[in-house]
Amino acid sequence: MPTVSAEDSRQAASLVEHDLAALAHPYTNLAAHQRTGPLVITRGEGVRVFDTSGNEYIEGLAGLWCASLGFSEPRLVEAATRGMAKLPFYHSFGGKAPAPTIELAERLIALAPAPMSKVLFANSGSEANDTAVKLIWYYNNALGRPEKKKIISRRRAYHGVTVATASLTGLPANHRDFDLPLERFLHADCPHHWRFADEGEDEESFASRMAENLERLIVREGPDTIAAMFAEPVMGAGGVIVPPATYFAKIQPVLRRYDILLLADEVICGFGRTGNRWGCETFGIQPDMLTCAKALSSGYIPISALLVSEPIWQAMVAESEKIGVFGHGYTYSGHPVAAEVALETLRIYEERDILGHVRQIAPVLQEGLRALADHPLVGEARGVGLVGALELVEDRRTKSSFPPALGVGAYFARRAEAHGLIVRVIAGDIVAVSPPLIISVAEIQELLARLSRALDDTLLWLRSKE
Ligand SMILES: Cc1ncc(COP(=O)(O)O)c(C=O)c1O
Repeated sequence: MPTVSAEDSRQAASLVEHDLAALAHPYTNLAAHQRTGPLVITRGEGVRVFDTSGNEYIEGLAGLWCASLGFSEPRLVEAATRGMAKLPFYHSFGGKAPAPTIELAERLIALAPAPMSKVLFANSGSEANDTAVKLIWYYNNALGRPEKKKIISRRRAYHGVTVATASLTGLPANHRDFDLPLERFLHADCPHHWRFADEGEDEESFASRMAENLERLIVREGPDTIAAMFAEPVMGAGGVIVPPATYFAKIQPVLRRYDILLLADEVICGFGRTGNRWGCETFGIQPDMLTCAKALSSGYIPISALLVSEPIWQAMVAESEKIGVFGHGYTYSGHPVAAEVALETLRIYEERDILGHVRQIAPVLQEGLRALADHPLVGEARGVGLVGALELVEDRRTKSSFPPALGVGAYFARRAEAHGLIVRVIAGDIVAVSPPLIISVAEIQELLARLSRALDDTLLWLRSKE
């Protein structure tokens, strides 16, 4: 246990008090939080963060799937300082532009996994996806197809929390009592083979069924009413769901047949997470639009981007000429300091061959997770590259989940923290792991050991309740 001075303890207690008095926490059971209080993190170092008592944690989710270069990269601090000193703010409205923003747009187009024409910047994954929804509608109006407006995503998808992107998101807590989803948003099947395949159905047959069901949905709704589909290459916050073999190869021809755009949401997968620069490369996706955020700046500063193909750009040009202006943009779209940090992040990925590193060490994480699949609490261990999950189940044979009231996921997360590991328990009792991309083999092994201890503690606790 680290030693903590009386003054530090006093300050820590005061932070808890002030947190409870002033801060509304995202994605938190707010009633329970009033009883448990916050875990206050004060500093980071490599893949680790430290709390007010000096306790050390491996950040098993890179914060929120974003701090790809860890929590203490000095070059990003320098880039932000440099950018702040030179041009602390400028915008791109009315034909103006900060210099680093131009360079970043060009860089992203060069890196894109499919031909892309232009980049629109925003500040979060939600904003980038929200912008895409608006452009999809704008595009179809430009083409004189005012009926072609519905957008398909998938159950368990995560695309954000604005009114439109929460409608795309396919998780009950993002809809319930928010009066969502809006009309025009449809949810196709979740392609999770382990959970939803029929008895004896292999991955490829399951993928064929997913594509047939998608086509049925399109035909039922009327192809002339469907504008686009959003898809994460690996579904992240919905439970780290890796698509079954041949899934994207089968759904893309369906979309093309009915002239439906495909947006790849690379907010988690982008910049190396799946072992390629883009999830699109890992799964053979050729999108018309692509969104990215998070690892674009290693999470150090808010920035996101939407890349659009030439036909969409041409429609934007035509509409703005007709209307007199392209009526969209955020004050902070392409903020110059964020652009400097993103450019430096991309340089570091290249110079340090972060992709090569991910490819080399990913098997340690994936094999380690698969080894935990034998644990009595684990229904499935899954993942690709440096993202994975353990799905905890009450009964491994029937795959039945624990009753939510039991709070198994929350207990597990507390035990993991007690062992010095922060992970995220999502969509029920699914333990997600997505460490900084710079993690070493020894650190992955430590992460897995801590994960395993938390599993054992949770099993003991459950048995003590029987
Ligand atoms: C795939 C995906 N899309 C969009 C978002 C929304 O991003 P943000 O939280 O920055 O709005 C997230 C956030 O986790 C995400 O994982």
